Amino acid sequence: AAPWRGVIPEYRDRLPIVGGLAPGARDITLAEGGTPLVRAQRLSERTGCEVWLKVEGCNPTGSFKDRGMTTAMTVAVAQGARAVVCASTGNTSASAAAYATAAGITCAVLVPEGKIAMGKLAQAIAHGATLLQVDGNFDECLRVARKLSEAFPVELVNSVNPARIEGQKTAAFEVVDILGDAPDIHCLPVGNAGNITAYWRGYTEYAEDGPATHRPRMWGFQAAGSAPIVLGHPVDEPETIATAIRIGNPASWEQAVAAREESGGAIRSVTDEQILDAHRWLSALEGVFVEPASAAGVAGLLQAHADGEVEPGQRIVCTVTGHGLKDPQWALRTADGGEVLPTRVEADVVEVARALGL
Ligand code: F0G
Repeated sequence: AAPWRGVIPEYRDRLPIVGGLAPGARDITLAEGGTPLVRAQRLSERTGCEVWLKVEGCNPTGSFKDRGMTTAMTVAVAQGARAVVCASTGNTSASAAAYATAAGITCAVLVPEGKIAMGKLAQAIAHGATLLQVDGNFDECLRVARKLSEAFPVELVNSVNPARIEGQKTAAFEVVDILGDAPDIHCLPVGNAGNITAYWRGYTEYAEDGPATHRPRMWGFQAAGSAPIVLGHPVDEPETIATAIRIGNPASWEQAVAAREESGGAIRSVTDEQILDAHRWLSALEGVFVEPASAAGVAGLLQAHADGEVEPGQRIVCTVTGHGLKDPQWALRTADGGEVLPTRVEADVVEVARALGL
């Protein structure tokens, strides 16, 4: 088979937002998408279902954001943008910084001070973005970024940019292209609610005039301390260890509710403890290393199963949204909050064999 070329070349006829650009517009791509769909053996056994993981940490910058950044950056550059801006809990900034570099334009990112994972901070800086730590949370960063893009010649590349959702819908296409049809249920974390919006659009388009015969129920999960959609009102001071989804007033709130209603799905919350349990499950039992927020969908599936709400025999896809190396500190903690310290040994085969219990 031909090598994967990135989501725009692979799905161009389903991306009118880039198809409509002037001839000669350059695709800004890092060959994103085409991520693994991994059969989750142990989750399948536990739930009696056929569970798959869409491993979005395998994108070029380590999260699903790259799917939307290729389209947003391609449109921005075609329209003459010289600079982009975004607010971010970390992954969007890493992705925007990388794609701005590929495009040869400048990038500014606003992040909540002290609340983004080190790996993501490092990525934005490595790619040469101007990174400003804002004394405020993500919602405040987004408010400022929006205003900045209205008053100054900088393009906003958050998921309120329509090109972002368009690119991200390709993940649903890939799931159907591999499984042959839509799953029965799709689980994923919800933060600013762009991704659940994008998957729902992708599944809907593929059911209307593509290879899918039906659409899945969408099950979205917020962190309990940052669960505005579940509560039905914004959360002023969102909290969770899953910093990627520490968001109190999601921009795509209405679209997320629409996805829930139209699909007969649900948006629920999971505690930080459940998120970390699911994070450990994925690492220790499936071999898939994700960042904590990414485990929220799996945490929600396990909760629903424990509540007797998961009928056996269903086909379920969980999107795991970002790579574990973004925020590795959580792997070095024990379930009761202790620190994991590797055992020290002499450079001696007898010592090593003894330490291994051989
Ligand atoms: N998982 C990860 C790893 C994320 O980084 C995000 C969002 C989500 C899930 C939630 O997706 O916002 O579309 O509902 N991160 C954004 C950022 C907010 O700035 O990187 P969503």
